[in-house]
Amino acid sequence: MSGQPAAVVVLAAGEGKRMRSRTPKVLHRIGGRSLLGHALAAAASLTPDHLVVVVRHQRDQVAEHIGQIAPKAVIADQDEVPGTGRAVACGLKALPVPPTGTVVVTYGDVPLLTGDTLAELVRVHEAGMGDGGPAAVTVLTAEVPDPAGYGRVLRDAAGSVTGIVEHRDADPAQRAVREINSGIYAFDAALLLDALGRIGSANDQGEMYLTDVLGIVRADGGLVQALPTTDLWQVEGVNDRVQLATLGAELNRRLVLDWMRSGVTVIDPATTWLDVDVRLAEDVTLLPGVQLLAGTEVAPGASIGPDTTLSGCQVGAGASVVRSHGSGARVEAGSKVGPFSYLRPGTVLGADGKIGAFVETKNAVIGVGSKVPHLTYVGDATIGTGTNIGAATIFVNYDGVHKDHITVGDHVRIGSDTMLVAPLTVGDGAYTAAGSVITTDVPAGALAVARGQQRNVEGWVARRRPGTSSADAAAAATTGTETTTATEATAAN
Ligand code: UD1
Ligand code: CA
Repeated sequence: MSGQPAAVVVLAAGEGKRMRSRTPKVLHRIGGRSLLGHALAAAASLTPDHLVVVVRHQRDQVAEHIGQIAPKAVIADQDEVPGTGRAVACGLKALPVPPTGTVVVTYGDVPLLTGDTLAELVRVHEAGMGDGGPAAVTVLTAEVPDPAGYGRVLRDAAGSVTGIVEHRDADPAQRAVREINSGIYAFDAALLLDALGRIGSANDQGEMYLTDVLGIVRADGGLVQALPTTDLWQVEGVNDRVQLATLGAELNRRLVLDWMRSGVTVIDPATTWLDVDVRLAEDVTLLPGVQLLAGTEVAPGASIGPDTTLSGCQVGAGASVVRSHGSGARVEAGSKVGPFSYLRPGTVLGADGKIGAFVETKNAVIGVGSKVPHLTYVGDATIGTGTNIGAATIFVNYDGVHKDHITVGDHVRIGSDTMLVAPLTVGDGAYTAAGSVITTDVPAGALAVARGQQRNVEGWVARRRPGTSSADAAAAATTGTETTTATEATAAN
Protein backbone atom coordinates (compact mmCIF):
# COMPACT_ATOMS: atom_id res chain seq x y z
CA MET A 1 0.00 0.00 0.00
CA SER A 2 1.66 3.13 -1.21
CA GLY A 3 -1.13 5.70 -1.26
CA GLN A 4 -1.12 5.27 -5.04
CA PRO A 5 -4.37 3.55 -5.91
CA ALA A 6 -4.63 0.88 -8.58
CA ALA A 7 -7.35 2.91 -10.25
CA VAL A 8 -9.45 6.02 -9.90
CA VAL A 9 -12.82 5.64 -11.58
CA VAL A 10 -14.52 8.94 -12.44
CA LEU A 11 -18.23 8.60 -13.15
CA ALA A 12 -19.44 10.82 -15.98
CA ALA A 13 -22.12 8.81 -17.77
CA GLY A 14 -25.11 10.66 -16.34
CA GLU A 15 -27.36 12.82 -18.44
CA GLY A 16 -27.25 16.17 -16.65
CA LYS A 17 -30.78 17.08 -17.76
CA ARG A 18 -31.14 20.02 -15.42
CA MET A 19 -28.38 21.94 -17.16
CA ARG A 20 -30.73 22.31 -20.16
CA SER A 21 -27.73 22.43 -22.43
CA ARG A 22 -26.45 21.00 -25.68
CA THR A 23 -23.06 20.86 -24.03
CA PRO A 24 -22.54 17.78 -21.85
CA LYS A 25 -22.73 18.79 -18.19
CA VAL A 26 -19.18 17.76 -17.35
CA LEU A 27 -17.84 19.96 -20.16
CA HIS A 28 -19.23 23.16 -18.62
CA ARG A 29 -16.45 25.23 -17.14
CA ILE A 30 -15.56 27.02 -13.94
CA GLY A 31 -12.20 28.62 -13.26
CA GLY A 32 -11.27 28.11 -16.91
CA ARG A 33 -11.45 24.32 -16.67
CA SER A 34 -14.25 21.85 -17.40
CA LEU A 35 -15.98 20.20 -14.46
CA LEU A 36 -14.48 16.93 -15.68
CA GLY A 37 -11.09 18.62 -15.92
CA HIS A 38 -11.29 19.51 -12.23
CA ALA A 39 -12.27 15.94 -11.33
CA LEU A 40 -9.44 14.50 -13.44
CA ALA A 41 -6.87 16.90 -11.99
CA ALA A 42 -7.77 15.79 -8.46
CA ALA A 43 -7.77 12.14 -9.51
CA ALA A 44 -4.47 12.39 -11.39
CA SER A 45 -2.77 13.95 -8.35
CA LEU A 46 -3.00 10.50 -6.71
CA THR A 47 -0.90 9.10 -9.61
CA PRO A 48 -3.07 5.98 -9.90
CA ASP A 49 -1.99 3.09 -12.10
CA HIS A 50 -5.14 3.71 -14.15
CA LEU A 51 -7.38 6.71 -14.51
CA VAL A 52 -10.77 5.59 -15.83
CA VAL A 53 -13.66 7.79 -16.95
CA VAL A 54 -17.04 6.15 -17.40
CA VAL A 55 -19.07 7.78 -20.19
CA ARG A 56 -22.38 7.24 -21.92
CA HIS A 57 -24.49 10.34 -22.40
CA GLN A 58 -23.13 12.54 -25.26
CA ARG A 59 -20.31 10.04 -25.24
CA ASP A 60 -18.37 11.28 -28.26
CA GLN A 61 -18.13 14.87 -27.09
CA VAL A 62 -17.03 13.80 -23.63
CA ALA A 63 -14.54 11.28 -25.00
CA GLU A 64 -13.03 13.86 -27.34
CA HIS A 65 -12.56 16.25 -24.44
CA ILE A 66 -10.89 13.53 -22.35
CA GLY A 67 -8.58 12.84 -25.28
CA GLN A 68 -7.49 16.47 -25.16
CA ILE A 69 -7.06 16.95 -21.42
CA ALA A 70 -6.07 13.46 -20.24
CA PRO A 71 -4.92 11.42 -23.22
CA LYS A 72 -3.74 8.55 -21.03
CA ALA A 73 -7.10 8.11 -19.30
CA VAL A 74 -9.04 4.95 -20.07
CA ILE A 75 -12.47 5.75 -21.50
CA ALA A 76 -15.02 3.15 -20.42
CA ASP A 77 -18.48 2.96 -21.94
CA GLN A 78 -21.36 2.21 -19.62
CA ASP A 79 -23.92 -0.12 -21.16
CA GLU A 80 -27.68 0.42 -21.07
CA VAL A 81 -28.00 -0.83 -17.49
CA PRO A 82 -28.38 2.27 -15.30
CA GLY A 83 -26.90 3.07 -11.91
CA THR A 84 -23.69 4.06 -10.22
CA GLY A 85 -22.87 0.44 -9.41
CA ARG A 86 -23.13 -0.56 -13.04
CA ALA A 87 -21.04 2.46 -13.99
CA VAL A 88 -18.18 1.36 -11.73
CA ALA A 89 -18.45 -2.24 -12.97
CA CYS A 90 -18.15 -1.00 -16.57
CA GLY A 91 -15.20 1.17 -15.57
CA LEU A 92 -13.30 -1.70 -14.02
CA LYS A 93 -14.08 -4.01 -16.92
CA ALA A 94 -12.24 -1.60 -19.22
CA LEU A 95 -8.94 -2.24 -17.42
CA PRO A 96 -6.49 -4.72 -18.94
CA VAL A 97 -6.53 -6.86 -15.79
CA PRO A 98 -8.75 -6.77 -12.71
CA PRO A 99 -7.18 -4.28 -10.27
CA THR A 100 -5.80 -5.22 -6.89
CA GLY A 101 -5.28 -2.84 -4.01
CA THR A 102 -7.25 0.38 -3.69
CA VAL A 103 -9.85 1.65 -6.15
CA VAL A 104 -11.12 5.21 -5.71
CA VAL A 105 -14.49 6.30 -7.13
CA THR A 106 -15.33 9.97 -7.74
CA TYR A 107 -17.77 11.99 -9.88
CA GLY A 108 -17.07 14.09 -12.93
CA ASP A 109 -19.43 16.82 -11.76
CA VAL A 110 -17.93 17.56 -8.31
CA PRO A 111 -15.34 20.20 -9.18
CA LEU A 112 -14.15 21.52 -5.82
CA LEU A 113 -12.93 18.18 -4.48
CA THR A 114 -9.17 18.46 -4.03
CA GLY A 115 -6.40 15.95 -4.54
CA ASP A 116 -5.48 16.48 -0.87
CA THR A 117 -8.91 15.27 0.24
CA LEU A 118 -8.65 12.23 -2.02
CA ALA A 119 -5.16 11.50 -0.68
CA GLU A 120 -6.51 11.71 2.87
CA LEU A 121 -9.34 9.33 1.92
CA VAL A 122 -6.83 6.82 0.55
CA ARG A 123 -4.60 7.20 3.60
CA VAL A 124 -7.46 6.62 6.07
CA HIS A 125 -8.72 3.73 3.95
CA GLU A 126 -5.38 1.98 3.74
CA ALA A 127 -4.72 2.51 7.47
CA GLY A 128 -8.05 0.80 8.27
CA MET A 129 -8.42 0.16 11.97
CA GLY A 130 -4.69 0.22 12.45
CA ASP A 131 -3.80 -3.46 12.73
CA GLY A 132 -6.10 -5.42 10.48
CA GLY A 133 -4.96 -4.01 7.17
CA PRO A 134 -6.99 -1.71 4.95
CA ALA A 135 -10.72 -1.19 5.25
CA ALA A 136 -13.12 -2.77 2.77
CA VAL A 137 -14.66 0.60 1.98
CA THR A 138 -14.07 4.14 3.18
CA VAL A 139 -16.70 6.65 2.17
CA LEU A 140 -16.34 10.42 2.26
CA THR A 141 -19.35 11.81 4.11
CA ALA A 142 -20.62 15.19 5.23
CA GLU A 143 -23.19 16.42 7.70
CA VAL A 144 -25.43 18.85 5.83
CA PRO A 145 -28.29 21.12 6.92
CA ASP A 146 -30.62 19.80 4.20
CA PRO A 147 -29.90 16.18 3.27
CA ALA A 148 -32.92 15.80 0.96
CA GLY A 149 -32.08 13.85 -2.20
CA TYR A 150 -28.81 12.39 -0.92
CA GLY A 151 -28.05 8.89 0.20
CA ARG A 152 -27.97 8.68 4.03
CA VAL A 153 -25.15 7.06 6.00
CA LEU A 154 -26.50 4.38 8.36
CA ARG A 155 -24.63 3.54 11.54
CA ASP A 156 -25.21 0.97 14.25
CA ALA A 157 -25.50 1.68 17.97
CA ALA A 158 -21.70 1.64 18.27
CA GLY A 159 -21.41 4.23 15.52
CA SER A 160 -19.98 1.87 12.87
CA VAL A 161 -21.18 2.44 9.33
CA THR A 162 -23.54 -0.33 8.25
CA GLY A 163 -24.64 0.93 4.87
CA ILE A 164 -26.17 3.68 2.78
CA VAL A 165 -29.82 4.12 1.90
CA GLU A 166 -30.98 6.38 -0.92
CA HIS A 167 -33.36 9.19 -0.03
CA ARG A 168 -36.21 7.77 -2.08
CA ASP A 169 -35.80 4.33 -0.49
CA ALA A 170 -35.38 5.65 3.07
CA ASP A 171 -37.94 5.51 5.88
CA PRO A 172 -38.68 8.61 7.97
CA ALA A 173 -36.12 7.71 10.64
CA GLN A 174 -33.42 7.24 7.99
CA ARG A 175 -34.41 10.49 6.30
CA ALA A 176 -33.82 12.28 9.60
CA VAL A 177 -30.11 11.39 9.31
CA ARG A 178 -28.11 14.43 8.20
CA GLU A 179 -24.86 12.60 7.41
CA ILE A 180 -24.90 12.13 3.64
CA ASN A 181 -22.96 10.01 1.17
CA SER A 182 -20.76 12.21 -1.02
CA GLY A 183 -20.47 9.45 -3.60
CA ILE A 184 -16.69 9.49 -3.22
CA TYR A 185 -15.12 6.31 -1.93
CA ALA A 186 -12.00 4.21 -1.56
CA PHE A 187 -12.60 0.48 -2.00
CA ASP A 188 -10.59 -2.68 -1.66
CA ALA A 189 -10.54 -3.71 -5.31
CA ALA A 190 -11.15 -7.43 -4.85
CA LEU A 191 -14.05 -6.91 -2.42
CA LEU A 192 -15.53 -4.26 -4.73
CA LEU A 193 -15.42 -6.53 -7.77
CA ASP A 194 -16.99 -9.36 -5.82
CA ALA A 195 -19.78 -7.19 -4.37
CA LEU A 196 -20.55 -5.54 -7.73
CA GLY A 197 -21.33 -9.04 -9.02
CA ARG A 198 -23.96 -9.38 -6.33
CA ILE A 199 -25.86 -6.07 -6.37
CA GLY A 200 -29.40 -6.06 -7.71
CA SER A 201 -31.75 -3.33 -8.77
CA ALA A 202 -34.55 -3.81 -6.26
CA ASN A 203 -34.95 -0.14 -5.44
CA ASP A 204 -37.27 2.72 -6.28
CA GLN A 205 -35.34 3.62 -9.46
CA GLY A 206 -34.62 0.06 -10.58
CA GLU A 207 -30.93 0.95 -10.88
CA MET A 208 -27.79 -0.89 -9.82
CA TYR A 209 -26.64 1.18 -6.87
CA LEU A 210 -22.98 1.39 -5.94
CA THR A 211 -24.14 2.23 -2.44
CA ASP A 212 -25.39 -1.34 -2.02
CA VAL A 213 -21.75 -2.48 -2.03
CA LEU A 214 -21.31 -1.03 1.46
CA GLY A 215 -24.06 -3.17 2.99
CA ILE A 216 -22.79 -6.27 1.18
CA VAL A 217 -19.16 -6.04 2.27
CA ARG A 218 -20.24 -5.13 5.79
CA ALA A 219 -22.49 -8.22 5.95
CA ASP A 220 -19.46 -10.24 4.78
CA GLY A 221 -17.57 -8.94 7.81
CA GLY A 222 -15.55 -6.27 6.07
CA LEU A 223 -14.70 -2.96 7.66
CA VAL A 224 -16.79 -0.08 6.34
CA GLN A 225 -15.73 3.31 7.55
CA ALA A 226 -16.58 6.94 6.93
CA LEU A 227 -14.31 9.93 6.57
CA PRO A 228 -16.47 12.93 7.43
CA THR A 229 -15.51 16.25 5.93
CA THR A 230 -16.62 19.67 7.17
CA ASP A 231 -15.80 21.36 3.88
CA LEU A 232 -19.18 20.86 2.23
CA TRP A 233 -18.15 22.63 -0.98
CA GLN A 234 -15.75 19.81 -1.77
CA VAL A 235 -18.53 17.25 -2.07
CA GLU A 236 -21.09 19.42 -3.80
CA GLY A 237 -22.00 18.49 -7.36
CA VAL A 238 -23.21 20.64 -10.22
CA ASN A 239 -26.69 19.76 -11.42
CA ASP A 240 -27.90 23.06 -12.89
CA ARG A 241 -26.54 26.44 -13.92
CA VAL A 242 -27.30 27.97 -10.56
CA GLN A 243 -24.93 25.50 -8.91
CA LEU A 244 -22.45 26.05 -11.73
CA ALA A 245 -22.29 29.76 -10.87
CA THR A 246 -22.31 29.17 -7.12
CA LEU A 247 -19.47 26.66 -7.24
CA GLY A 248 -17.63 28.82 -9.76
CA ALA A 249 -17.76 31.76 -7.37
CA GLU A 250 -16.57 29.63 -4.47
CA LEU A 251 -13.71 28.20 -6.53
CA ASN A 252 -12.72 31.73 -7.47
CA ARG A 253 -12.94 32.88 -3.84
CA ARG A 254 -10.56 30.06 -2.89
CA LEU A 255 -8.13 30.83 -5.70
CA VAL A 256 -8.05 34.54 -4.81
CA LEU A 257 -7.48 33.72 -1.13
CA ASP A 258 -4.58 31.43 -2.01
CA TRP A 259 -2.94 34.12 -4.14
CA MET A 260 -3.39 36.74 -1.44
CA ARG A 261 -1.73 34.40 1.04
CA SER A 262 1.17 33.98 -1.34
CA GLY A 263 1.80 37.70 -1.63
CA VAL A 264 -0.60 39.16 -4.19
CA THR A 265 -2.54 42.31 -3.29
CA VAL A 266 -6.16 41.98 -4.37
CA ILE A 267 -8.15 45.17 -3.80
CA ASP A 268 -11.56 43.64 -4.47
CA PRO A 269 -11.72 39.83 -4.32
CA ALA A 270 -15.39 39.83 -5.35
CA THR A 271 -14.66 41.39 -8.77
CA THR A 272 -11.37 39.60 -9.37
CA TRP A 273 -11.73 36.43 -11.44
CA LEU A 274 -8.87 34.01 -11.89
CA ASP A 275 -8.55 30.81 -13.87
CA VAL A 276 -6.96 27.90 -12.04
CA ASP A 277 -3.89 28.01 -14.28
CA VAL A 278 -2.84 31.66 -13.84
CA ARG A 279 0.51 32.31 -12.17
CA LEU A 280 1.05 35.42 -10.08
CA ALA A 281 4.32 36.49 -8.49
CA GLU A 282 4.89 38.27 -5.20
CA ASP A 283 3.77 41.89 -4.94
CA VAL A 284 1.52 41.75 -7.93
CA THR A 285 -1.42 44.13 -7.45
CA LEU A 286 -4.84 43.34 -8.89
CA LEU A 287 -7.23 46.29 -8.95
CA PRO A 288 -11.04 45.88 -9.07
CA GLY A 289 -12.66 44.31 -12.11
CA VAL A 290 -9.79 42.09 -13.27
CA GLN A 291 -10.10 38.76 -15.08
CA LEU A 292 -6.91 36.78 -15.57
CA LEU A 293 -7.55 33.76 -17.77
CA ALA A 294 -6.00 30.89 -19.69
CA GLY A 295 -2.56 30.60 -18.15
CA THR A 296 -1.86 34.31 -17.83
CA GLU A 297 1.37 34.95 -15.93
CA VAL A 298 2.20 38.12 -14.03
CA ALA A 299 5.73 38.86 -12.75
CA PRO A 300 6.70 40.56 -9.46
CA GLY A 301 5.49 44.07 -8.79
CA ALA A 302 3.25 44.33 -11.83
CA SER A 303 -0.15 45.98 -11.51
CA ILE A 304 -3.24 44.90 -13.45
CA GLY A 305 -6.50 46.81 -13.66
CA PRO A 306 -8.86 48.24 -12.87
CA ASP A 307 -11.26 46.67 -15.37
CA THR A 308 -8.83 44.56 -17.37
CA THR A 309 -9.13 41.12 -18.96
CA LEU A 310 -6.00 39.20 -19.90
CA SER A 311 -6.20 35.77 -21.49
CA GLY A 312 -3.06 33.76 -22.18
CA CYS A 313 -0.88 36.83 -21.55
CA GLN A 314 2.46 37.40 -19.86
CA VAL A 315 3.14 40.59 -17.95
CA GLY A 316 6.69 41.38 -16.89
CA ALA A 317 8.05 42.70 -13.61
CA GLY A 318 6.83 46.14 -12.62
CA ALA A 319 4.68 46.54 -15.72
CA SER A 320 1.15 47.94 -15.56
CA VAL A 321 -1.95 47.25 -17.63
CA VAL A 322 -4.87 49.62 -17.04
CA ARG A 323 -8.48 49.20 -18.32
CA SER A 324 -7.45 47.06 -21.27
CA HIS A 325 -8.12 43.74 -22.96
CA GLY A 326 -5.35 41.37 -23.96
CA SER A 327 -5.13 37.90 -25.43
CA GLY A 328 -1.99 36.02 -26.31
CA ALA A 329 0.13 39.10 -25.67
CA ARG A 330 3.40 39.66 -23.81
CA VAL A 331 4.15 42.90 -22.01
CA GLU A 332 7.74 42.99 -20.82
CA ALA A 333 9.22 44.42 -17.63
CA GLY A 334 8.54 48.04 -16.81
CA SER A 335 6.13 48.64 -19.68
CA LYS A 336 2.84 50.49 -19.44
CA VAL A 337 -0.38 49.64 -21.26
CA GLY A 338 -3.67 51.53 -21.32
CA PRO A 339 -6.08 52.83 -20.48
CA PHE A 340 -8.46 51.46 -23.13
CA SER A 341 -6.24 49.39 -25.38
CA TYR A 342 -6.65 46.01 -27.09
CA LEU A 343 -3.66 43.69 -27.34
CA ARG A 344 -4.33 40.81 -29.69
CA PRO A 345 -2.34 37.59 -30.18
CA GLY A 346 1.29 37.96 -31.14
CA THR A 347 1.73 41.32 -29.48
CA VAL A 348 5.08 41.71 -27.73
CA LEU A 349 5.79 45.00 -26.04
CA GLY A 350 9.49 45.20 -25.15
CA ALA A 351 10.80 46.34 -21.79
CA ASP A 352 10.07 49.91 -20.68
CA GLY A 353 7.76 50.45 -23.63
CA LYS A 354 4.34 51.98 -23.85
CA ILE A 355 1.04 51.18 -25.49
CA GLY A 356 -1.19 54.04 -24.45
CA ALA A 357 -4.86 54.86 -24.98
CA PHE A 358 -7.09 53.52 -27.75
CA VAL A 359 -4.39 51.42 -29.40
CA GLU A 360 -4.99 48.04 -31.06
CA THR A 361 -2.06 45.75 -31.72
CA LYS A 362 -1.89 42.36 -33.42
CA ASN A 363 1.12 40.23 -34.34
CA ALA A 364 3.29 43.20 -33.49
CA VAL A 365 6.73 42.99 -31.93
CA ILE A 366 7.60 46.34 -30.42
CA GLY A 367 11.20 46.90 -29.30
CA VAL A 368 12.63 47.96 -25.97
CA GLY A 369 11.66 51.48 -24.94
CA SER A 370 9.40 52.09 -27.94
CA LYS A 371 6.11 53.90 -27.56
CA VAL A 372 2.74 53.69 -29.27
CA PRO A 373 0.96 56.26 -27.14
CA HIS A 374 -2.41 57.12 -28.73
CA LEU A 375 -5.14 56.10 -31.16
CA THR A 376 -3.14 53.70 -33.30
CA TYR A 377 -3.47 50.32 -35.03
CA VAL A 378 -0.32 48.22 -35.28
CA GLY A 379 -0.81 44.93 -37.16
CA ASP A 380 1.76 42.53 -38.61
CA ALA A 381 4.72 44.71 -37.71
CA THR A 382 8.15 44.75 -36.21
CA ILE A 383 9.20 47.96 -34.49
CA GLY A 384 12.76 48.51 -33.29
CA THR A 385 14.01 50.06 -30.07
CA GLY A 386 13.50 53.63 -28.91
CA THR A 387 10.96 54.36 -31.63
CA ASN A 388 7.92 56.61 -31.25
CA ILE A 389 4.73 56.07 -33.23
CA GLY A 390 2.76 59.33 -33.46
CA ALA A 391 -0.90 59.62 -32.56
CA ALA A 392 -3.45 58.18 -34.98
CA THR A 393 -0.93 56.20 -37.00
CA ILE A 394 -2.30 53.19 -38.87
CA PHE A 395 -0.22 50.24 -39.95
CA VAL A 396 -2.16 49.49 -43.14
CA ASN A 397 -1.44 45.76 -43.30
CA TYR A 398 -4.37 44.49 -45.34
CA ASP A 399 -5.16 45.23 -48.98
CA GLY A 400 -8.44 43.38 -48.82
CA VAL A 401 -6.87 40.09 -49.92
CA HIS A 402 -3.37 39.80 -48.45
CA LYS A 403 -1.76 40.80 -45.20
CA ASP A 404 1.77 42.13 -45.43
CA HIS A 405 4.46 43.01 -42.93
CA ILE A 406 5.85 46.39 -41.96
CA THR A 407 9.26 46.86 -40.39
CA VAL A 408 10.08 50.07 -38.57
CA GLY A 409 13.67 50.49 -37.38
CA ASP A 410 15.28 51.83 -34.21
CA HIS A 411 14.79 55.41 -32.99
CA VAL A 412 12.29 56.20 -35.70
CA ARG A 413 9.81 59.08 -35.31
CA ILE A 414 6.56 58.34 -37.11
CA GLY A 415 4.58 61.59 -37.36
CA SER A 416 0.98 61.80 -36.22
CA ASP A 417 -1.69 60.49 -38.58
CA THR A 418 0.74 58.55 -40.74
CA MET A 419 -0.57 55.69 -42.88
CA LEU A 420 2.20 53.10 -43.23
CA VAL A 421 1.13 50.92 -46.16
CA ALA A 422 2.47 47.37 -46.21
CA PRO A 423 4.74 45.89 -47.36
CA LEU A 424 7.11 48.53 -46.09
CA THR A 425 10.40 49.16 -44.32
CA VAL A 426 11.21 52.37 -42.49
CA GLY A 427 14.95 52.56 -41.78
CA ASP A 428 16.68 53.36 -38.49
CA GLY A 429 16.47 56.93 -37.33
CA ALA A 430 14.02 57.95 -40.06
CA TYR A 431 11.16 60.45 -39.66
CA THR A 432 7.79 60.65 -41.38
CA ALA A 433 5.88 63.91 -41.68
CA ALA A 434 2.50 64.10 -39.95
CA GLY A 435 -0.40 63.16 -42.20
CA SER A 436 1.72 61.23 -44.69
CA VAL A 437 0.64 58.13 -46.57
CA ILE A 438 3.88 56.18 -46.80
CA THR A 439 3.86 53.58 -49.57
CA THR A 440 7.53 53.12 -50.39
CA ASP A 441 10.47 52.24 -48.18
CA VAL A 442 12.08 55.05 -46.20
CA PRO A 443 15.90 54.93 -46.00
CA ALA A 444 17.64 55.26 -42.65
CA GLY A 445 17.84 58.85 -41.49
CA ALA A 446 15.47 60.23 -44.16
CA LEU A 447 12.37 62.37 -43.64
CA ALA A 448 9.49 61.01 -45.69
CA VAL A 449 6.79 63.50 -46.66
CA ALA A 450 3.81 62.23 -48.59
CA ARG A 451 0.93 64.67 -48.41
CA GLY A 452 -0.72 67.43 -50.45
CA GLN A 453 0.86 70.91 -50.45
CA GLN A 454 -1.14 73.42 -48.36
CA ARG A 455 -2.81 76.38 -50.21
CA ASN A 456 -4.43 79.35 -48.33
CA VAL A 457 -7.23 81.16 -50.23
CA GLU A 458 -7.16 84.64 -48.69
CA GLY A 459 -10.49 86.29 -47.82
CA TRP A 460 -12.53 83.20 -48.75
CA VAL A 461 -14.70 83.27 -45.60
CA ALA A 462 -15.69 86.94 -46.00
CA ARG A 463 -16.67 86.29 -49.62
CA ARG A 464 -18.34 82.89 -49.36
CA ARG A 465 -19.64 82.83 -45.77
CA PRO A 466 -20.67 86.41 -45.10
CA GLY A 467 -22.74 87.09 -41.96
CA THR A 468 -21.49 84.01 -40.13
CA SER A 469 -19.74 84.07 -36.77
CA SER A 470 -16.62 82.89 -38.60
CA ALA A 471 -16.75 85.87 -40.93
CA ASP A 472 -17.24 88.19 -37.94
CA ALA A 473 -14.32 86.63 -36.08
CA ALA A 474 -12.11 86.88 -39.16
CA ALA A 475 -13.09 90.52 -39.67
CA ALA A 476 -12.32 91.31 -36.02
CA ALA A 477 -8.96 89.59 -36.30
CA THR A 478 -7.97 91.54 -39.41
CA THR A 479 -9.35 95.01 -38.43
CA GLY A 480 -8.77 94.73 -34.67
CA THR A 481 -12.31 96.12 -33.94
CA GLU A 482 -15.21 94.36 -32.21
CA THR A 483 -18.51 94.50 -34.10
CA THR A 484 -21.97 93.22 -33.22
CA THR A 485 -21.83 89.65 -34.30
CA ALA A 486 -24.31 87.72 -36.30
CA THR A 487 -24.31 85.16 -33.54
CA GLU A 488 -25.50 87.73 -31.01
CA ALA A 489 -28.18 88.85 -33.41
CA THR A 490 -29.33 85.25 -33.90
CA ALA A 491 -29.21 84.55 -30.18
CA ALA A 492 -31.42 87.59 -29.52
CA ASN A 493 -34.15 86.11 -31.73
C1 UD1 B 1 -25.59 9.32 -5.74
C2 UD1 B 1 -25.55 8.31 -4.61
C3 UD1 B 1 -26.02 8.98 -3.33
C4 UD1 B 1 -25.15 10.17 -3.02
C5 UD1 B 1 -25.13 11.12 -4.21
C6 UD1 B 1 -24.11 12.22 -3.97
C7 UD1 B 1 -25.99 6.15 -5.58
C8 UD1 B 1 -27.01 5.10 -5.81
N1 UD1 B 1 -26.40 7.20 -4.93
O1 UD1 B 1 -26.95 9.70 -5.91
O2 UD1 B 1 -25.96 8.07 -2.25
O3 UD1 B 1 -25.65 10.86 -1.87
O4 UD1 B 1 -24.75 10.42 -5.41
O5 UD1 B 1 -24.19 13.15 -4.98
O6 UD1 B 1 -24.85 6.00 -5.95
N2 UD1 B 1 -23.59 8.11 -13.05
C9 UD1 B 1 -23.09 7.30 -14.03
N3 UD1 B 1 -23.86 6.29 -14.50
C10 UD1 B 1 -25.10 6.05 -14.01
C11 UD1 B 1 -25.61 6.88 -13.00
C12 UD1 B 1 -24.82 7.90 -12.53
O7 UD1 B 1 -21.97 7.49 -14.50
O8 UD1 B 1 -25.75 5.12 -14.49
C13 UD1 B 1 -22.77 9.20 -12.55
C14 UD1 B 1 -23.38 10.55 -12.84
O9 UD1 B 1 -22.90 11.09 -14.05
C15 UD1 B 1 -22.93 11.37 -11.65
C16 UD1 B 1 -22.77 10.36 -10.54
O10 UD1 B 1 -22.68 9.10 -11.16
O11 UD1 B 1 -21.68 11.97 -11.87
C17 UD1 B 1 -23.91 10.39 -9.57
O12 UD1 B 1 -25.10 10.12 -10.25
P1 UD1 B 1 -26.47 10.75 -9.78
O13 UD1 B 1 -27.57 10.21 -10.59
O14 UD1 B 1 -26.33 12.21 -9.65
O15 UD1 B 1 -26.57 10.11 -8.32
P2 UD1 B 1 -27.54 10.51 -7.18
O16 UD1 B 1 -28.89 9.97 -7.48
O17 UD1 B 1 -27.42 11.94 -6.91
CA1 CA C 1 -29.78 9.17 -9.78
